[in-house]
Amino acid sequence: MSCSLNIEIRPVTPPDVPAISLLAREIWQATYPGIITQDQIDFMLEQRYGHERLYDDLEDADKWLDQAFQDGRRVGFAFSEIYKGEFKLDKLYIHPDVQRKGVGGELIAHVAARAKKLGYPCVILAVNKRNEKAIGSYKKYGFVVREAIVDDIGRGFVMDDYVMEKKL
Ligand SMILES: CC(C)(COP(=O)(O)OP(=O)(O)OC[C@H]1O[C@@H](n2cnc3c(N)ncnc32)[C@H](O)[C@@H]1OP(=O)(O)O)[C@@H](O)C(=O)NCCC(=O)NCCS
Repeated sequence: MSCSLNIEIRPVTPPDVPAISLLAREIWQATYPGIITQDQIDFMLEQRYGHERLYDDLEDADKWLDQAFQDGRRVGFAFSEIYKGEFKLDKLYIHPDVQRKGVGGELIAHVAARAKKLGYPCVILAVNKRNEKAIGSYKKYGFVVREAIVDDIGRGFVMDDYVMEKKL
């Protein structure tokens, strides 16, 4: 479906951090049970969306944190970064109420435009091999699977992912 919603994309700022952290938890709880364990969900939320971690990300010149609003309501976010010399879409999360309405596509386009402007030939991302909905969405927006990886993230947890890339 094309975007018939009134979507506005804005950079995340320090006062937004608590709301982004809460939104992440809400979306992760709607997404990952059945894909990873609750322990791993809690561990990864703390590791990636703890307030201090988000404040640090905002200070990092190689990271961009974007959030999407629909009619003034915060409905999703996309974080991108330079990772090992490549441009990576590191996080893309849309509230379940507004999934499949084009918000993810708008954020992907926003991030891809940034990568292109900075001269990168492609955007990469990592997605859990069992997250079929997200993989379907990424394919729709021009990503293809580049490789399969298993990344040790500590405390006995791994990320069992596909790396996908979209040429610009
Ligand atoms: C994956 C995600 C970011 C896509 O954003 P979105 O705004 O829903 O996506 P869009 O509306 O732009 O694109 C829709 C496409 O995504 C896929 N998709 C999204 N939700 C889906 C669902 N519930 N069931 C099946 N396919 C789905 C489909 O390919 C769909 O295309 P279609 O409607 O033409 O069939 C979003 O659904 C989301 O946040 N999901 C939960 C969190 C997540 O898995 N994030 C990615 C982590 S790597």
